[in-house]
Amino acid sequence: MARLVVVSNRVSAPKSVTRAGGLEVAVMASLKRNPGIWFGWSGKLSTNILATRTIEGDPVSFVLTDLPKAAYDEFYYGFANRVLWPILHYRLDLAEFSRQDLSGYTQINDHFADELHELLKPDDVVWVHDYHFLLLAKALRERGHRNRIGFFLHTPFPPVEIITGLPHHERIISALCHYDLCGFQTETDAANFARYVESECHFPGDRKRGYDTGERIVRIGDFPVGVETDSFNKMARRAIRSSFADGVLSSLSGRAMIIGVDRLDYSKGIQNRLEAFERFLATYPEWRDNVTYLQITPKSRSEIPEYMDMERNVSSTVGRVNGQYGEASWTPIRYVNRAHTRTALAGLYRAARAALVTPLRDGMNLVAKEYVAAQDADDPGVLILSRFAGAAVECKPALLVNPYDTEAVAAAIYRALTMPIEERRARHNALYAILAKNDINEWPGRFLTALTGAETLGATASAGSLPHSASAVPEGRSAYRPN
Ligand code: F6P
Repeated sequence: MARLVVVSNRVSAPKSVTRAGGLEVAVMASLKRNPGIWFGWSGKLSTNILATRTIEGDPVSFVLTDLPKAAYDEFYYGFANRVLWPILHYRLDLAEFSRQDLSGYTQINDHFADELHELLKPDDVVWVHDYHFLLLAKALRERGHRNRIGFFLHTPFPPVEIITGLPHHERIISALCHYDLCGFQTETDAANFARYVESECHFPGDRKRGYDTGERIVRIGDFPVGVETDSFNKMARRAIRSSFADGVLSSLSGRAMIIGVDRLDYSKGIQNRLEAFERFLATYPEWRDNVTYLQITPKSRSEIPEYMDMERNVSSTVGRVNGQYGEASWTPIRYVNRAHTRTALAGLYRAARAALVTPLRDGMNLVAKEYVAAQDADDPGVLILSRFAGAAVECKPALLVNPYDTEAVAAAIYRALTMPIEERRARHNALYAILAKNDINEWPGRFLTALTGAETLGATASAGSLPHSASAVPEGRSAYRPN
């Protein structure tokens, strides 16, 4: 029986301090259906011996490896997050390439391949997640592995005109053709990669049948990540009755709440969103003192200069808006850097009259989907969603906005807060039905069937075999890092 081996940089192992963020929801759903191993970084950096240890579990065992300090900094703070992240989010202007960082990135991919080499059995199915491991299948093939290896990119994949701005893209992006299946969040991302394979790698084939590299057929598909819709709704129903949610609600003194939840990242459009809220207060003065905007923004990648700049700008804009419009008894924007548990967020989503999910570019954005899942169908809130989030492909009944258009976002806030109940219900019903159809529990099966071509994975692999009570929603008490 084939075993599933999932690989990602961060791993949400029991008692571990590092959390895998948005990726965690997707990976846990996969491993609950297909027992196996989650392999990744232990969270420890070392300057000498790199230990790798196993935490046995059922249905998931965790294999965690330490990483070398110097190479990790080049890999994570350098190549992954100062080169790949901005370029994948269409921000060539922010990319800071250095040969040294690429060497650290290659070294970490090689280290992962060496450790997996010790672990892999010939019929294991390997599923690699995200932009940290573009070179991993190639490194595994070089070590003789002929296993089925799939790759899923959680971020966007930009058009060929942008991705070819990546120095050494010929080596780095084309290495994806060592995977058997490359999966993306949206059809546009998948089509962009297919165009890259055609125009830069010149492999014969097409999007439908795959591309023939001479060694394998590499196939390309879109597999939009969903949420566990019904379970999240139940969680929100419970959470809104908690003392935490109650405390937040009573502190609003009857005012409407708008919520935003994002990692502190320039791709999330937080600065533009604050300016739109400022414009809203200027344009619709009747709403002053009647609405509170809660922005929950855990810090991330704070060592990177672009993130430091952004942190400063966001804090100063919050201060400016609160200074200009606030009163002794009312703070227009509550800006919170602390991460909250998933349960706490579910309660806040349900309590919020509107959510502002306005990234400048996003692979999917699960906050948008969770906000919808959390709502009370009789009195739902309104989702204001950037057309540049992957979620916008499915979430058409949301109020779709261009996050660069400050006036339009301000008008959407007004429309959300004044929307008649019938329209709110109709939009919410339509959105909920879409999300229930693309439930996260269906997602692993779709990818793995495409990867293996058959239902060949472990004991609980067949579709629908997961008992519904076995929730893939990591409810835990630890703080959740939004994607
Ligand atoms: O959006 C892609 C993603 O991998 C998320 O799954 C995750 O939350 C984030 O990026 C990674 O952030 P970090 O750099 O903190 O691991």
